[in-house]
Amino acid sequence: MDLKIPDTLHVDAYQMRFANVADVDLERLHALSIAVGWPHRAEDWQYLRELGHGFVALDDIDRVMGSAMWFPHGEHFATLGMLITSPRLQTNGTAKWLMQRVLAECPGMGLRLNATRAARRLYRSLDFVAQQTVFQCQGEARKPLDATDLPAGHEIRQLRPSDLDAVIAFDAPGFAFPRPVHLAKLFESSLCYGLYRGEELRAFSMSRAFGRGYVLGPIAALSPEDAIVVARPHVDAHAGHFLRIDTHVEAGPFASFVQQCGLPVFDTVTTMTLGEGVDYGTVGDEKGALYALASQSMG
Ligand SMILES: CC(C)(COP(=O)(O)OP(=O)(O)OC[C@H]1O[C@@H](n2cnc3c(N)ncnc32)[C@H](O)[C@@H]1OP(=O)(O)O)[C@@H](O)C(=O)NCCC(=O)NCCS
Repeated sequence: MDLKIPDTLHVDAYQMRFANVADVDLERLHALSIAVGWPHRAEDWQYLRELGHGFVALDDIDRVMGSAMWFPHGEHFATLGMLITSPRLQTNGTAKWLMQRVLAECPGMGLRLNATRAARRLYRSLDFVAQQTVFQCQGEARKPLDATDLPAGHEIRQLRPSDLDAVIAFDAPGFAFPRPVHLAKLFESSLCYGLYRGEELRAFSMSRAFGRGYVLGPIAALSPEDAIVVARPHVDAHAGHFLRIDTHVEAGPFASFVQQCGLPVFDTVTTMTLGEGVDYGTVGDEKGALYALASQSMG
């Protein structure tokens, strides 16, 4: 790929230049995501800025016309997200220009993202390959009726800081890489549950405030049944409120559980990758898999 990215881009009457996403007013970033109908609050942008890096496209009078971010997970892998172009500029090459700038910052890294329909063609043109569908399920949460008893010797409890290392190790096969920094940050701002058999972690789940209400994720588990066990207390906690879950699981007990909780499929996006060994783990894998993403941007 040609890594010489022009510093400015002319689109219609605009001349745009790059700026660091960290140097821009939160309210202006917020206005950009509102313009494309995304639910992020200013706080959600701030959260993403603390975890990742990115660029914005500024016009001559410093209006934010586009954004793109990346979230490194160690030296060899990053997830990409927050690619937005102001509606008045779309289909003029701005997103491609921003993406090329981001890709130039991630040389040799394996990359993964979750693509909206509008962006899939752009990512394909940058050699990303479609892998699987993510179901964005959301609505007003309601408590599912039938709670099953925990198997003998199992215990579900809120996680403590001393559980974090076990969570990081358990999460890695499903995510494809360890993500200690992100999980530690999520841990600080989330309600977290773990399913234990003795000292062994069998599943974990987190939920936090996001967008219009709350998001349930990440969830990692060895089986759909265990994923349901750790999801249930969050649904109870957020019943009557807006709750969202992004999951690759299309069918089976976990998908039915999500529907029963009042969270129908609202939209889908497509996980796309560039490079080897960066796919999500597979549900049903004996090492455990992700049943819910932390977010579409962070994976
Ligand atoms: C997706 C989005 C970022 C594209 O921005 P853009 O500035 O219009 O993109 P570009 O002009 O750089 O287009 C890049 C390529 O995608 C194509 N494209 C752009 N918009 C498209 C659309 N709505 N449908 C199909 N193709 C489209 C362009 O033709 C171009 O293809 P080419 O390189 O083969 O000519 C923009 O539509 C947007 O902000 N949408 C809402 C938020 C969103 O979905 N973000 C993506 C998150 S994964």
